[in-house]
Amino acid sequence: MSEGPVNPLRDPRDRRLPRIAGPCSMVLFGVTGDLSRKKIMPAVYDLANRGLLPPGFSLVGFARREWEDQDFAQIVRDAVKEFARTEFRQEVWDQLADGFRFVPGEFDDDVAFDLLRSTLQQLDQERGTGGNHAFYLAIPPGLFGSVVSQLQEHGLAESDTAWRRVVVEKPFGHDLESARELNDVLAGVFPSGSVFRIDHYLGKETVQNVLAMRFANTMFEPLWNSHFVDHVQITMAEDIGIGGRAGYYDGIGAARDVIQNHLLQLMALVAMEEPRSFDADSLRREKEKLLASVVLPRSLARSTARGQYAAGWAGGEKVQGFLEEEGIAQDSTTETYAAVTLHVENRRWAGVPFYLRAGKRLGRRVTEVAVVFKPAPHLPFSDHSTEELTQNALVIRVQPDEGLTVRFGSKVPGTSMEIRDVSMDFAYGGSFTESSPEAYERLILDVLLGDPPLFPRHEEVELSWKILDPVLEHWARKGAPEPYESGTWGPPSADEMLAREGRSWRRP
Ligand code: BG6
Repeated sequence: MSEGPVNPLRDPRDRRLPRIAGPCSMVLFGVTGDLSRKKIMPAVYDLANRGLLPPGFSLVGFARREWEDQDFAQIVRDAVKEFARTEFRQEVWDQLADGFRFVPGEFDDDVAFDLLRSTLQQLDQERGTGGNHAFYLAIPPGLFGSVVSQLQEHGLAESDTAWRRVVVEKPFGHDLESARELNDVLAGVFPSGSVFRIDHYLGKETVQNVLAMRFANTMFEPLWNSHFVDHVQITMAEDIGIGGRAGYYDGIGAARDVIQNHLLQLMALVAMEEPRSFDADSLRREKEKLLASVVLPRSLARSTARGQYAAGWAGGEKVQGFLEEEGIAQDSTTETYAAVTLHVENRRWAGVPFYLRAGKRLGRRVTEVAVVFKPAPHLPFSDHSTEELTQNALVIRVQPDEGLTVRFGSKVPGTSMEIRDVSMDFAYGGSFTESSPEAYERLILDVLLGDPPLFPRHEEVELSWKILDPVLEHWARKGAPEPYESGTWGPPSADEMLAREGRSWRRP
């Protein structure tokens, strides 16, 4: 059997043991969506291919389609062929596809949920799934309510002898109030320990490595505070536009789409205190403490920026602007770029700004955390010698070139004393032979194993909305965002936001 993935958050004593899910099935709501096709279905296959699913694992699709089991299997097969990370192996596929079932129906259709129940009972008997079922809601949050209450009414939400879990995808609301409402809906049916909120950034190898880097080494942590750190920049830049996601994205925008979740989670991992251990409670508690200490500067006009992409260039091709995208209202004020300045009110971080930015149709795809250090307090060199020296920085490259870069000053070889920035690099590809699993592989496996550290709990979601709500309200009062040309690095106001504080964004 191949060795299982190594989750760095697990007890090091079982580090080399494969983590194989026990008997279970997963019910997928939203099988026709992009997420299912591009991420969830391929990840299920990749897990099976790596021998990490139980032999009788079963996948049940539920949707408003008149499909038979084999139609559903064909949909999954196409998705796997196009998007799976690992090679297609017929014998793996055959075994997996044996457990595929499809239940046609609307989310408020009692007959369909009766059929779902009998299908699951049958799978328990035929394939030994043991009554353990994960319900994956890859559907808009507006539909969560009717699905979870159907699960409850049809006796699927709980069992005395087996586990039942529900998996939900963001957006977890569009502000604090709606997030609370959504949580009430889930909490009314599933106990909090059975709710798995997916933030796929937490499943990324490099994001987990933030913890390893900080807490498994001695050389970073002593500098990790306001005595040495000047500021932190967290960037999530994408070169793609909104593609076919107008229906989801319009009215949501960059801040709700990725800052409220991915970037604030990244910030929490970068800035939190050391957890007592990496069990779910300790880790989440530290993240929550950090998020509860985050404050916005007084002037939101000066400390935030937002933009909307206009026509321009991407990958050498001319591309249209956001307002010309299919399905976007001509007068849409949705931002496709957002930047915010945040402060952390605690002893470690007082006075250190955290600048978070995210945008679509930017210069290139890159996600990174740059910890920028203060300049040396004294430079015993002539001004001329250090003209090309900037500040030391430690850059955690989340994607695409996963790794870590340390930027520092070095003497340029020669007879004069000239000091310039150089970089020292750690690249995953250069040090490890195995490729990283997709975030969804790890997260789906964790759901099936009931391993919750990588899933934010509701308190974190609420705290993140508390941080962002005033910014969103401020922007809502201001009307249209500032346009920026596709292929550039966002609106001028984002540069001004940092320039006001004597700083500038990195050009990754
Ligand atoms: C999703 C956002 O959460 O993350 C998308 O909804 C975004 O808008 C995507 O494109 C990016 O994910 P990744 O893993 O490619 O950085």
